[in-house]
Amino acid sequence: MPATAFVERLNQQIAHEFGAHQQYVAVAVHYDAETLPRLATFFYAQALEERNHAMMMVQYLLDAGVDATIPGVEAPRTQFDDIVEPVALALEQERRVSDQIEDLAKVARAEGDYLSEQFTLWFLKEQVEEVATMSDLLRIVERSRDNPMLAEEYLAREQPGEAGADPTAPPAAGGAL
Ligand SMILES: [Fe+2]
Ligand SMILES: [Fe+2]
Repeated sequence: MPATAFVERLNQQIAHEFGAHQQYVAVAVHYDAETLPRLATFFYAQALEERNHAMMMVQYLLDAGVDATIPGVEAPRTQFDDIVEPVALALEQERRVSDQIEDLAKVARAEGDYLSEQFTLWFLKEQVEEVATMSDLLRIVERSRDNPMLAEEYLAREQPGEAGADPTAPPAAGGAL
């Protein structure tokens, strides 16, 4: 059985991951409406990743036979003044999630819950990648502020964040999308 304190924190994290999903859908739709299809596609894909993170956490709780609560989420931000703001918001969000996952790992360790600690490690590694990808993208959109097509061309050429299937990823409830 995972430690009760860990189960509580993981249920909170499920809400954060679904919140990140909603925020990235909102960002993707914003770019889509601006006819910036590569930026839109990037964020639609990021949104799916966040949904999968939430469902991996749900599966962990299901496997452990403890309560997995599907939360409501706060409304995401939907209004942005330029192409930079959504990416700056996304980077802030990824940094916050990195801190949250570190806290999760700390709770597991403090409780002597080694399986749960091990479960958090994949997410810690994933956060390193997501923060790096998002800070690269922030630099690109900052340079493309006056010419968003530069960012579109960069995304078409480099295809950041498209690592393909990760066999080390934890299983997701319902199967990863
Ligand atoms: Fe995530
Ligand atoms: Fe993320």
